[in-house]
Amino acid sequence: MSGKFITFEGVDGAGKSTHLHGFVEALRARGVDVVLTREPGGTPLGEQLRELVLHQSMHMDTEAMLMFAARVEHIEQVIKPALARGAWVVSDRFSDASFAYQGGGRGMDIARLEALERWACGDFRPDLTLLFDIPVEVAKARLADAREPDKFEREQAGFFQRVRSAYLDRARQQPQRFAVIDAVQTLEQVRAQVQAVLDRL
Ligand code: TMP
Repeated sequence: MSGKFITFEGVDGAGKSTHLHGFVEALRARGVDVVLTREPGGTPLGEQLRELVLHQSMHMDTEAMLMFAARVEHIEQVIKPALARGAWVVSDRFSDASFAYQGGGRGMDIARLEALERWACGDFRPDLTLLFDIPVEVAKARLADAREPDKFEREQAGFFQRVRSAYLDRARQQPQRFAVIDAVQTLEQVRAQVQAVLDRL
């Protein structure tokens, strides 16, 4: 595999999706073949599973298994083939979101998530993860004027505090893979941070 696999993560309302598009455009401007994708989703079946997990209430184990089921399709049908032909893959969320939302937010046992990850992903991991970090109150305020909230976006502040902490714990545990972006800053300042990460690649 010669391409790079880059993921964007953060609590809902952190602004990652806004910056993801600029990041991809900047890579393309440098002549890189980029596949932009997302989770849950990224394949026809994955998008159907996305509809279910974002809008149906279900046991947290079911939720976690559906996230990883969609991920298997995504890895095998989209991500690995793209990397194999030398493209770079940029994904709006990946496994770290399962550790943050199902692990941190819902309180699912991390060892069980690690077992699912081993099963679904083997030792396949992103080369780089940009974590958009923001206090939960700021993220909530930004979300307030956005689209109709999905199941996760309707969760209480405590849920998002746990999601944020879980993300930051992972970033601390794997500093070589994570770039933590301070997403509280202005759009321009955040863009500059993202640009700096791109320049280092
Ligand atoms: P999005 O709004 O960034 O597209 O993400 C959809 C929601 O799905 C978001 O609230 C986070 C959640 N999610 C999980 O709970 N677990 C996962 O593994 C993934 C990929 C997303």
